[in-house]
Amino acid sequence: MKKKYIVVGGSRGIGKATAQLLINQGQHVSIIARNMPEWEGDFDFYKCDVLKDDLPAISGGIDGLIYCPGSINLKPFKGLKEKDFQADFDINVLGAVNVLQQYTKNLQAAEQASVVLFSTVAVQTGMAFHASVAAAKGAVEGLVRSLAAEWSPQIRVNGIAPSITATDLAARLLRNEKQLEAAAARHPLARIGQISDAAQLAAFLLQSTSSWMTGQIIALDGGMSAIRKL
Ligand SMILES: NC(=O)c1ccc[n+]([C@@H]2O[C@H](COP(=O)([O-])OP(=O)(O)OC[C@H]3O[C@@H](n4cnc5c(N)ncnc54)[C@H](OP(=O)(O)O)[C@@H]3O)[C@@H](O)[C@H]2O)c1
Repeated sequence: MKKKYIVVGGSRGIGKATAQLLINQGQHVSIIARNMPEWEGDFDFYKCDVLKDDLPAISGGIDGLIYCPGSINLKPFKGLKEKDFQADFDINVLGAVNVLQQYTKNLQAAEQASVVLFSTVAVQTGMAFHASVAAAKGAVEGLVRSLAAEWSPQIRVNGIAPSITATDLAARLLRNEKQLEAAAARHPLARIGQISDAAQLAAFLLQSTSSWMTGQIIALDGGMSAIRKL
């Protein structure tokens, strides 16, 4: 039987690729985003800004939910204003909270459900200019573990902590060959992340393939947070 998934932020980037993997497996996917996806596929679409609009009511059990909106707002600490911290907290944490509160009953109605949220490598590995986004994503990691505990065993909750991945979100940091090469060289595996790296991990976490995993933050960072080349 078809499983039902909600992909918040399925119009572009990692969310789009995750939605496409699930659709290709014959699953039912509902996409929530501000803009209609510019790709063809068999999905339901709900146009919604998770910070401003009422989230759509979706009936029945939901087997998995992934929340993809996020930010990479890099500035020296002294240039960061309160509104920067608030904006990062809003989109990374409160947006996810709104969504999870809206669909808790749907997740509880499934036999076993899975939630995937996004952190960043910059939470466990301190990086200059990341104070605001790392603070917000640190809160996401706390949310993952708290909900994993509160909702076990019916609902699993895991997080992915990527390093830089080639999406629209990271485009400002990857504008030319020099930036690309420098970014690749920071990783022991000598490349930046591709959208498919994150989508395949997300699809694994959303489905029963990972049915004995909860409360985990999975590093997806070319080895950056774990090893150092001498
Ligand atoms: N890419 C990286 O280098 C990187 C590194 C570390 C962590 N991450 C994290 O990984 C996650 C996915 O990143 P990504 O690079 O795939 O992001 P992305 O390319 O910016 O895609 C974000 C998706 O979320 C939707 N979205 C954004 N704001 C929204 C809102 N207010 N309401 C509804 N939908 C909204 C966007 O669609 P619309 O514009 O149509 O709404 C889009 O589909 C994020 O949490 C990010 O922080 C990414």
